[in-house]
Amino acid sequence: MKKSFRKKPLALLLKEVNSEHRLNRILGPVALTSLGVGAIIGTGIFVLIGVAAHDKAGPAITLSFAVAGLACIFAALCYAEFASMVPVAGSAYTYAYATLGELMAWIIGWDLILEYGVASATVAHGWSKYFQDFIGIFDLAVPPLFANAPFDFDPANGMLSVTGAWFDLPAVMITFAVTIVLVKGIKESANFNAGMVILKVAIVLLVIVLGAMYVKPSNWIPYAPFGFSGFSIFGHTVLGEAGPGGAPVGVLAGAAMIFFAYIGFDSISTHAEEAKNPQRDIPIALIGSLVLCTILYIAVAAVITGMVPYDKINIDAPVSNAFMQAGIGWAQFVISLGAITGITSVLLVMMLSQPRIFLAMARDGLLPKSFFGAIHEKFRTPWKSTILTGLFVAILGGMLPLRLLAELVNIGTLFAFVVVCTAVLIMRRTHPDADRPFRAPLVPFVPIAGILTCLMLMFSLPAENWFRLFGWLLIGIVIYFFYGRKHSSLNTYKP
Ligand code: ALA
Repeated sequence: MKKSFRKKPLALLLKEVNSEHRLNRILGPVALTSLGVGAIIGTGIFVLIGVAAHDKAGPAITLSFAVAGLACIFAALCYAEFASMVPVAGSAYTYAYATLGELMAWIIGWDLILEYGVASATVAHGWSKYFQDFIGIFDLAVPPLFANAPFDFDPANGMLSVTGAWFDLPAVMITFAVTIVLVKGIKESANFNAGMVILKVAIVLLVIVLGAMYVKPSNWIPYAPFGFSGFSIFGHTVLGEAGPGGAPVGVLAGAAMIFFAYIGFDSISTHAEEAKNPQRDIPIALIGSLVLCTILYIAVAAVITGMVPYDKINIDAPVSNAFMQAGIGWAQFVISLGAITGITSVLLVMMLSQPRIFLAMARDGLLPKSFFGAIHEKFRTPWKSTILTGLFVAILGGMLPLRLLAELVNIGTLFAFVVVCTAVLIMRRTHPDADRPFRAPLVPFVPIAGILTCLMLMFSLPAENWFRLFGWLLIGIVIYFFYGRKHSSLNTYKP
């Protein structure tokens, strides 16, 4: 049992950072912030806002965005402290290895598959919805058999129903296209990313400014038709109302769902080694991108719920559809195109991150090095795990419904945030004198507030997500005991 709790020494981590080929320190605060925004704005704001406003929060979805943004800011401050201490790939997995021990690190690494792998599937799904919306403008359509996942999720009874389709072809196609690009070695250059970000942000601003002219304030009343809370413990509603099937509804339940829109900011922490001045710039980028997105999101939410009564909001392509309902066809064209481009960039970053986490775990011996650590001779990319990720994402994205995937991603990511906040608390105790170029302010308040707000959002998700999370982690623990524990590099480490 002792083995499962051994920690990766901070000294070893720092030695690895210094011995590995250092990356160029080229990223300043603007480039880092735009990388964050590139990974953040996507399916959440362009697609999920529809279901969340329609089913969970009504016009009060604006408040939901504020609550989810706040939880992320607490977590971001903790990420910033760790990223400046140990600027290595692996993110939350590595931070857990140094503080909570090997088993917990493995659990987090396994959990991060939910964040990056399953999020990619959700994002691919959102891409498909906007792609279909876009070609619809030209009276084209994907044949019904290939336009959707074969199953839909009915929140009323918590069951999967059959849609009659075979699989979602556009979701599978975009996943394969991104996989090919990633295997061939995309260097997400800051300039390329900045271009995508400028386009995305411009379209979001267009939505806000143009949409504001079509807002009817009467659509904001009632403001919170599902109430202001929505908190349950394993299916027992504690605060607020229960919606169809007993799932919580209300502002918090909405926040737990659109939390998805903020996922991706943590990928900035993996660029710590490339920052010119990580001590100053990583915290600026983490907080800056989050605050910017929070403001944009709240404004978009206010506009969309002001343009369309919340119960008439389209759940597949809600933003462009709101403009279609307002009779502004050209805006629908521009928004769909912007959403497709923007969501593609999120998919690229997410599918890039997953193999990096695998790589960090394989280097530590917790996954087979021959597969997950394999680097392509010519392209210099972790090609085998990139292809495996692509297949996994294509199957999930093509077969499972959006709502189900998004909630699973959220609970997995929130769990990772709880662990990172906890790890900061532990590290402050165990290594009080370690060099911390950036210190999270107001410790222990900030990490504790991060833990509590993330847990609150986890409890605002329908209960079955907890069971799915436990099931997933259980499979992970079994794999650890059969593989990782025996092959860990720490078995042979001599300080
Ligand atoms: N935050 C990312 C998105 O909304 C995952 O697409």
